[in-house]
Amino acid sequence: MTKVDLLIKNCAEIHTLKGPDRPRIGDEMRDTGRLENGAIVVKNHRIINVGPSKEIEKNHDARETVDATGKTVIPGFVDPHTHLIYSGSRENELKMKIQGKTYMEILKEGGGILSTVNSTRRASKQELKEEALKRLDTMLRHGTTTAEAKSGYGLDMENEIKCLEVINELNETHPIDLIPTYLGAHSLPPEFSDPGEYIDFCTHEVIPKIAEEGLAKYCDVFCEKGVFTAEESRKLLSEAKKLGLKIRVHADEIENIGCSTMAAELDAISVEHLVKTGEEDIKMMAEAGTMGILLPGTPFMLMEKEYAPARKMIDNEMAVALATDLNPNCWTESMQMIITLACLQMKMTPSEALTAATFNAAKAVEKDDIGSLEKGKKADFLVLDVPNHQHIPYRFGGNLVKEVYKDGKKVV
Ligand code: NIG
Ligand code: FE
Repeated sequence: MTKVDLLIKNCAEIHTLKGPDRPRIGDEMRDTGRLENGAIVVKNHRIINVGPSKEIEKNHDARETVDATGKTVIPGFVDPHTHLIYSGSRENELKMKIQGKTYMEILKEGGGILSTVNSTRRASKQELKEEALKRLDTMLRHGTTTAEAKSGYGLDMENEIKCLEVINELNETHPIDLIPTYLGAHSLPPEFSDPGEYIDFCTHEVIPKIAEEGLAKYCDVFCEKGVFTAEESRKLLSEAKKLGLKIRVHADEIENIGCSTMAAELDAISVEHLVKTGEEDIKMMAEAGTMGILLPGTPFMLMEKEYAPARKMIDNEMAVALATDLNPNCWTESMQMIITLACLQMKMTPSEALTAATFNAAKAVEKDDIGSLEKGKKADFLVLDVPNHQHIPYRFGGNLVKEVYKDGKKVV
């Protein structure tokens, strides 16, 4: 009998996501390593065994045992695209959207990103932390155990650094692991009238400081018509790469201006949004091994009919992950809700969506020790109060999470 810390037994389903240790593509996305009547064993914060419950129970003497009869166990959700740090809210824009105003029209009238920049600049570090903390607690209750978090509502040196420091400090204290991204090129700030000059400022003044202080792992840009062109984005990202930051890109969200191909050429870790991405772009990204992060909450909240062509991507063997895009325009902390939208609006199957929200999402933030339930991986997993994973997209708008384990410790 091996002495262990925790045993979760009699699980109706465990989805181990066991498989090749690289982003899953095509058919592989439908194989979630489903095990009926399984058990999972934890020792020293790591998973040491997963298998048939009866067998596992015989060989392990656990300090604590949880009976998960009728429940489903999956890896903790990884949310690889969030704008976690902002102050205030923009509920007033919902009425404008209902009346037919587009995202870009609202932005041009001083709403959108720039109104959040105003409130975020005014907020102290402590205030920003408190606002973000509430969102992190909600994310955790809904099953997110790791998340990427972008700056991008400060824009100037002082406020971008303030936001990145908040992310790094929250990472030290909150159970959710956070990965910081610098998104200074999110919008042209009011102090600048020329996007090229602002890109120069980000490139030559802000990024060197961020790199020197180790405040961010990634550099991102909102590459979009009317925001930053593919060439401006290329300039910024190439310099960021030279200074040791890895890159991710907001691309093809509203119009396709060649950003996803530019990102693939620069070996971006991921290209995100991809609503307007064409077949040729998909083939190129599949070939380059670029990860697409799909954010179906965004077209949903913008009341757009078009969603990212997830089916074409999966069928062309391009790797895809899912994320919330949590921001004041698309305020959801729930990866469960995103899975519902992925299935209903983008025609992903429940298994594909589960892979995209766990294993592939972990790969999208380059984390190799999470995203699957296998020997040696971190014990980050969820007990869902449902008998199988198809309930996740099916029972929308609620919270199916019964328990959350982070590093083997029950945190919800
Ligand atoms: O990913 N599109 C750019 N950035 C965010 C939205 C930011 C905002 O509207 O505040 C996004 O959707
Ligand atoms: Fe975004």
